[in-house]
Amino acid sequence: MTQNELKQAVAQAALDTVRPKLERDTILGIGTGSTANMFIDSLAGVKQLFDGAVASSEASADRLKGHGIPVYDLNSVNSIQIYIDGADESNSALELIKGGGAALTREKIIAAASDQFICIADESKLVPRLGAFPLPVEVIPMARSYVARELVKLGGDPVYRSGVVTDNGNLILDVHNLDISVAITLEEQINNITGVVCNGLFAVRPADLLLISTPNGVQEFHRPR
Ligand code: 5RP
Repeated sequence: MTQNELKQAVAQAALDTVRPKLERDTILGIGTGSTANMFIDSLAGVKQLFDGAVASSEASADRLKGHGIPVYDLNSVNSIQIYIDGADESNSALELIKGGGAALTREKIIAAASDQFICIADESKLVPRLGAFPLPVEVIPMARSYVARELVKLGGDPVYRSGVVTDNGNLILDVHNLDISVAITLEEQINNITGVVCNGLFAVRPADLLLISTPNGVQEFHRPR
């Protein structure tokens, strides 16, 4: 199977998981990226079964609206029942690296505000240890060089993602070679650097359910309690 076929299969598995839980007033959180796009497209067929969605990017909002799925501002909804999104890496504790698509801050806000977070990915994303994928960090533009120097002190090699401006008007540093053996601690350390808006470690709020697509089917991993 190609990677696209694996992503398609996991998007369908996510729909199969979510569909029985949909009610007229259900608000879904919807992520960003190619896997999330496939989920959005499959969601179009059941749009009459739920109320609408909160999107983690302008691109996903546009795609949802294109299917006639109502898109809400997070401030106008009381709660999000289920958030579905991809990831760049996951470990077996369902701690993630996200932000390859530069949508990490809105993704983290939606994850925090959601009752359940379902992460969907192909098997290449499940890793024994986080960090081969460079960690995206969203920074306020004027703080870019200062934050980069602080990230070097944490052992990382930050690279400015040239030409990318986030939906929030900020910049991205991709940090290589970090030691992510204790993800929660590093997530908090990076968030404490003045000028950092958010970093792509999802360890304080990991996924609750991880669906991993393999040529032999989709495997389920539940967050250890
Ligand atoms: C966007 C993300 C995506 O979930 C992540 O980059 C995975 O993308 P894809 O499904 O295209 O592999 O975090 O900010």
